[in-house]
Amino acid sequence: MASSGILVFIFPVLCICAVKSGFVKVECKAENVGHYGQQSLLECVVKTSSDVNDPNIRMVAWKKLTSPEDEGDLVLGFKRGKLDEPKRGYRFAEPSWDGKNMNVSLLITNTAVADEGDYKCIVITDSGDDNMVTTLKVQAKYSVPTVYSIPEKIVPNTDSTLVCESHGGYPQGTIRWFDEEKHEWTKSSEMDAKQSDDGLFQLTSRLSLLGGSTFSKYTCAVFNASGGKEDEKTFEMPPPPSSQGGLFVPGSPETSKVVAPLVVIGSLIIGLLLLLLYKRRSQKARRNSTAPLMDRRDAAPTDVEEGYNSHEDEPINQAQS
Ligand SMILES: *[C@@H]1O[C@H](CO)[C@@H](O)[C@H](O)[C@H]1NC(C)=O
Ligand SMILES: *[C@@H]1O[C@H](CO)[C@@H](O)[C@H](O)[C@H]1NC(C)=O
Repeated sequence: MASSGILVFIFPVLCICAVKSGFVKVECKAENVGHYGQQSLLECVVKTSSDVNDPNIRMVAWKKLTSPEDEGDLVLGFKRGKLDEPKRGYRFAEPSWDGKNMNVSLLITNTAVADEGDYKCIVITDSGDDNMVTTLKVQAKYSVPTVYSIPEKIVPNTDSTLVCESHGGYPQGTIRWFDEEKHEWTKSSEMDAKQSDDGLFQLTSRLSLLGGSTFSKYTCAVFNASGGKEDEKTFEMPPPPSSQGGLFVPGSPETSKVVAPLVVIGSLIIGLLLLLLYKRRSQKARRNSTAPLMDRRDAAPTDVEEGYNSHEDEPINQAQS
């Protein structure tokens, strides 16, 4: 009996404590995304339980944390009814904010890469206090890439390099290369990422091309840190020399491209020759069997077309494998 009496006494006390610590709550969006050079909003609002009427905020401190444990740098403060040493470029998101306004969101007016990180919002009201950490991620879009070649004037059948540059992006992205058939050539390239003083990345990628083994176009594409394509630029190679000089480079990807059509054309010619030979013979045979002369001429084109199609199929499949 005695123990249950104590329980009955303790229970309401626990409840009151739980409710009391829940009087005031700072609620923030866990992650905010800001764009370089634009305004960023770190959204936090103060929630109070329904039995608090007319809550009043006595103090707000917005701090930029350099590590999870540290005190942080005050970027925006409010106490005793006025702003407390606000840093330039930081203000309350709500215009003419005052202690009656439960929206304590922070606005960064000109977002820099250095603004990325964790921020702690500490709030003291006349009915309790709370704090919350929220994160800002900064993004900057990469410029449309530029592509040039080394040497500037590509000499047919000699090695050359294509250089692709894109700058002003954040976080670090990647450059990838594709030919006009959308095959990727990034493995033949090397990329270098430099971070300038403002934290933005400059990407440079060099694609090595072997003489005589080039496609007619190469596309350099810039992808952002989350793998989204931001922009691309296509470089047109100078037309190949009209001479036969560069056609047969053993082992180069170009060889199969050149050989395939030759096989098609070659077999076509042989097929046509055979057809002609056959025709001649059957004509002689038909003349003997008194067939009308017109029939021969009508029959010829269709036969040629059939010969064309049947020879075309195999080599093209070979070329794709
Ligand atoms: C807080 O204020 C900002 C600026 O006016 C606004 O964009 C945001 O939506 C507000 N947040 C809430 C939860 O009301
Ligand atoms: C990457 O690009 C995609 C699509 O354009 C975009 O939705 C995403 O926010 C970008 N991410 C970064 C980190 O820039």
